[in-house]
Amino acid sequence: MIKLVAIFCLLTLFGLSNADIQANKLFELLKSKRSRNTPVLNTLTLLNEATDEYTPVYIAPQDGLAQLDKILALPGQPEGVNLNQYSGYVTVNPNAGRALFYYFVESPTDSSTKPLVLWLNGGPGCSSMMGAMTELGPFRINSDGKTLFMNDYAWSNVANMLFLESPAGVGFSYSNTTSDYDRSGDKNTADDAYVFLVNWLERFPQYKTRDFYITGESYAGHYVPQLAYAILLNNKKTNQTIINIKGIAIGNAWIDDETSLKGMFDYWWTHALNSDATHDAILKYCDFASDSSSAMCDNITDKAFIEKGNIDIYNIYAPICLTPNQRNTSTVPGSIDNFDPCWQSILEFYLNDSMVQKALHAKPTSWELCSEVITSWNDSAVTIIPIIKYLIENGQRLWVYSGDVDARVPVTASRYSINILNLPIETAWRPWYLNKEVGGYLEAYKGLLLITVRGAGHAVPSYQPQRALALFSSFLGGILPPSS
Ligand SMILES: *[C@@H]1O[C@H](CO)[C@@H](O)[C@H](O)[C@H]1NC(C)=O
Ligand SMILES: *[C@@H]1O[C@H](CO)[C@@H](O)[C@H](O)[C@H]1NC(C)=O
Ligand SMILES: *[C@@H]1O[C@H](CO)[C@@H](O)[C@H](O)[C@H]1NC(C)=O
Ligand SMILES: *[C@@H]1O[C@H](CO)[C@@H](O)[C@H](O)[C@H]1NC(C)=O
Ligand SMILES: *[C@@H]1O[C@H](CO)[C@@H](O)[C@H](O)[C@H]1NC(C)=O
Ligand SMILES: *[C@@H]1O[C@H](CO)[C@@H](O)[C@H](O)[C@H]1NC(C)=O
Repeated sequence: MIKLVAIFCLLTLFGLSNADIQANKLFELLKSKRSRNTPVLNTLTLLNEATDEYTPVYIAPQDGLAQLDKILALPGQPEGVNLNQYSGYVTVNPNAGRALFYYFVESPTDSSTKPLVLWLNGGPGCSSMMGAMTELGPFRINSDGKTLFMNDYAWSNVANMLFLESPAGVGFSYSNTTSDYDRSGDKNTADDAYVFLVNWLERFPQYKTRDFYITGESYAGHYVPQLAYAILLNNKKTNQTIINIKGIAIGNAWIDDETSLKGMFDYWWTHALNSDATHDAILKYCDFASDSSSAMCDNITDKAFIEKGNIDIYNIYAPICLTPNQRNTSTVPGSIDNFDPCWQSILEFYLNDSMVQKALHAKPTSWELCSEVITSWNDSAVTIIPIIKYLIENGQRLWVYSGDVDARVPVTASRYSINILNLPIETAWRPWYLNKEVGGYLEAYKGLLLITVRGAGHAVPSYQPQRALALFSSFLGGILPPSS
């Protein structure tokens, strides 16, 4: 197995403070999956749409609740901003007392003609408020952790953006039946997110027939396709378009255990983070196709972790987050082009503020980026390639994008995973441009687009907000970004 305990100790030793962000949660999960002692169910059964019955989901009246969810203003937001923002809870199971928290931002212009887009962060067990406040939402938090500045490249410029904290136990989302947290897993996450959406659309009925897309990153490479699949299946079984889903876009997405692990270590070697000898030994001793690991493989992957040193693995060329003493604390205001490496503590400081929680209609919570109450993950498919196939066959738009300086779920992982599908190429590998610069590269397959973002880390919009917005706009328009 991959020894994550050891990895975490090393991170602490080197003073990395981002030790529990979403992709590290992923490695905890992989550790438990590949360990012989604590098996995680690798369940992936595509349901038979012809024979499996539709099970009606819980739907409650939502009249008048949208107005109550309206945010007057977020503490520290710039003066004169006129945005329709909403947040609050949607009950997904009244018996258990389980409710999911959302934050919704309407596009400031022509919102009624723009699509509805759901954003999900990964983990498993990390909050989508990360996406909202540090990646693609209308505001970013200044380094003081108290004031906000506008993000000129917010995805809400081109879509109505819905952020969901999922599953219960993440962020402000909760269950009054705390044993629910121990039942967290891929399947329950998708089921609850589906119930959330159906009820949310009752609360905001003007969006019921709107074109709908799902986007997300990292472990949301599971969440997003699984939710899209649940939606399509229920649309079929009920013979009606309950949710008008048109496509998905997933960034630096974990979609296949074997190819993603191989892709990660290959990236480390080709980006000069590991020696030839270490990489050769990984190829020799590690069998990533196997559900379990070996002592030799553990030993050499540990060495690979040590060899790469104290870098930000989510953006190998970015500065790391230093302690306040080491840090240059000159209070320059936040800037969209200069992403603060200490974003995690800044985000936690802001969202843990009682005035912020009140403004968000959240119940008082010790808010953390990744859930502390979800300590195990019941089921995690080893691959979601069969679901990707299903989505393609059912006419969904499918974009797999990748920040090319992420070493956690790097572009090599995405490429190896997509190669499994063996899809015909429709547009051969080429650069795409923004403002005369190469924004990244793309290859269009029949039914799926692979597209990279040059100079972006794991959280693509954090590091390359302008390129990320160009990519997202192209995705919504269903067109390839320009070739010159
Ligand atoms: C959870 O319990 C609290 C306190 O009894 C109650 O106010 C709240 O409505 C419950 N949540 C749900 C989703 O039922
Ligand atoms: C774990 O997942 C499996 C497969 O989806 C399911 O049968 C089982 O009931 C789940 N266990 C819990 C505790 O939720
Ligand atoms: C959907 O249509 C099929 C075929 O017409 C029918 O057998 C089925 O009962 C319908 N399902 C529902 C939920 O109406
Ligand atoms: C790997 O095994 C060698 C030989 O047993 C040992 O010296 C070394 O410390 C181990 N490396 C790690 C990272 O565990
Ligand atoms: C801190 O940053 C400011 C502004 O960039 C710079 O002028 C100053 O020299 C830096 N101080 C240290 C100790 O690095
Ligand atoms: C959040 O604030 C409360 C007090 O308001 C504090 O007890 C708790 O430790 C804080 N949580 C985090 C994660 O900082």
